[in-house]
Amino acid sequence: MERITTKALAEAFIDEQVREVRAQVGDKKVLLALSGGVDSSVVAALLIKAIGKQLICVHVNHGLMRKNESENVIEVFQNQLDANLIYIDATDRFLNLLAGVADPETKRKIIGGEFINVFADEARKLDGVSFLAQGTIYPDILESVKQGEGKKAVKSHHNVGGLPDDLAERFELVEPIKLLYKDEVRVVGRALGLPSEMVDRQPFPGPGLGVRCLGAITRDRLHALREADAILREEFDKCGLNQTVWQYFIAIPDIKSVGVKDDSRYEGWPAIIRAVNTKDAITATIEEIPYKILHTITNRITNEVEGINRVLYDLTPKPTGTIEWE
Ligand code: XMP
Repeated sequence: MERITTKALAEAFIDEQVREVRAQVGDKKVLLALSGGVDSSVVAALLIKAIGKQLICVHVNHGLMRKNESENVIEVFQNQLDANLIYIDATDRFLNLLAGVADPETKRKIIGGEFINVFADEARKLDGVSFLAQGTIYPDILESVKQGEGKKAVKSHHNVGGLPDDLAERFELVEPIKLLYKDEVRVVGRALGLPSEMVDRQPFPGPGLGVRCLGAITRDRLHALREADAILREEFDKCGLNQTVWQYFIAIPDIKSVGVKDDSRYEGWPAIIRAVNTKDAITATIEEIPYKILHTITNRITNEVEGINRVLYDLTPKPTGTIEWE
């Protein structure tokens, strides 16, 4: 298959997929878990074009999204594309289950498992849905082949995992972008008119801020993380680093240090900046961020975010660090 590198090729791909999806689903309903990531967003936009309101999008907010992320999903899909969108705020469900859980892999399992529970509960309420759309892309298929060959993964990287049997048996899959690589998905997304903040979005792990609020998650530290991360992203946007750095984010460990604010002792968490470049996420190098920008970010985070009194910059490549801290 020719690689999709231009708008014209993307438009031809979209036309072909619109025809195929219509032929596959007829007048039946299709369900999609819409996280707001590049892949599920492109599938949603493609299916809205093909079958309109026959597509039911479910957006589960697990309370571990970045600032304004769920709001953007609602704005783009419900308000601009007039999608059939069910929004579920499951923040309390997730955070209650995660309370006191410090082990990274247990956190991942809880988040992945609860995501399926919430999605499955919603799916069971819907009548007449015969298809499940998924944003599977070609590297996902290659990765599952590798795992099937018994290679040991460093982290479980589970996002959704498998649906319970009763639902898995009920649904036929619709996977319109399963032969595409990520860069092709982005070209198709642009041709479908999706906004750049969605199409060019940096990778964001399925367990979201859950693996960046290190150790046992608390609501106050999660809030500080979300605000600090929003400042980092805003400053990277302003100086163009968003165009050159592959992935950048804040992690906050579960430790406090002594600091000083308004002439008084101020115990707070450190915010750790991670900014890496990579081709395949298997190895990664560190982006050199100009000191001036690091100072601006530090000033803003320590002044604007409640609970943070220091900002650190992680200089560790992968290996020995992984990209995420958990
Ligand atoms: P690591 O930390 O393993 O991350 O160097 C490599 C890439 O994978 C992302 N990542 C995840 N993605 N579910 C995901 O969907 C996960 O559990 C997960 N853990 C890490 C990470 O953001 C980086 O891009």
